Amino acid sequence: MGRPYVFITRKLPDDIVAPLYDKYDVNMWPHEHLAVPRDVLFKEANQAEALITMLSDRIDEELLKQSVKLRVIANVAVGYDNIDVETATKRGIIVCNTPDVLTETTADLTFALLLTTARRLIEAAEFIKEGKWKSWSPLLLAGTDVHHKTIGIVGMGKIGQAVAQRAKGFHMRVLYYNRSRNIEAERALDATYCSFDELLEQADFVVCLAPLTNETYQLFNSRAFMKMKSSAIFINVGRGAVVDEEALYEALIHERIAGAGLDVFAQEPIRSDHPLLQLPNVVALPHIGSATKETRYAMMQLCCRNVIAVLEGRKPYTAIQSQ
Ligand code: GLV
Ligand code: GLV
Repeated sequence: MGRPYVFITRKLPDDIVAPLYDKYDVNMWPHEHLAVPRDVLFKEANQAEALITMLSDRIDEELLKQSVKLRVIANVAVGYDNIDVETATKRGIIVCNTPDVLTETTADLTFALLLTTARRLIEAAEFIKEGKWKSWSPLLLAGTDVHHKTIGIVGMGKIGQAVAQRAKGFHMRVLYYNRSRNIEAERALDATYCSFDELLEQADFVVCLAPLTNETYQLFNSRAFMKMKSSAIFINVGRGAVVDEEALYEALIHERIAGAGLDVFAQEPIRSDHPLLQLPNVVALPHIGSATKETRYAMMQLCCRNVIAVLEGRKPYTAIQSQ
């Protein structure tokens, strides 16, 4: 019997994948910054017992149906909306994600994006580089305060709770909305559970960390932006499709909200000529929530450990429970 075949959809560092090469026949898509084409992915998935996938790979029913040897998919992300988990589970394929290892790192980025948007840091940095700084003046690049304001967190999972913890350090009032109440988080973080509408009406910073599901698809639509304060800033580090981007654009140009900080987009990569990116009060980042060397290494390592566990017939560390 040959060794199990493992396909990795992106070039990962050699030291990370070495344990896999020791045990299995491994093939890796050779590009670090280019996604694997769909026809290649289909061919490889048809042969593989294990796949390590990126959030940019669409693992749908059509692909799963022809992946006849597949036993495990390890997604290098905490989110897994790119994978049809229900179909995978039905076919006996285990799907794993990377929770916990990225929680604090993603919370850091979320808070950094909030501060950057509120204090107009990108505009300010560009202003000085463009030689526009002529004198100190009272309202030059004046932003809005973060401390002592109200933050409304939509999606109070582990990352949401880590953001709330940071907000406490800034003396913020913490509201949250989540599919289910989290009494423990309320006690530990002095966070107040409220309805989606109450959160929108009261928060100075509306922070979206919700996963993309049928229920959250375009949750932030024109109605939601209409409910927000005109001084409010919207931050999204969840998934782009949780937002109706056209409605967000309309809300920004008609000054129904004050600004937005976005790490995720409905279409990734977003085109640089996208209307949202032309607005001075939009801070846009290329989906870097968990992007520190330490955390990305930990995520990749966890994927390898999950693959080895399943192929050796052991319980994976972080399998997704199908709903
Ligand atoms: C990133 O968006 C992730 O889900 O890990
Ligand atoms: C989601 O917020 C998680 O970290 O699991």
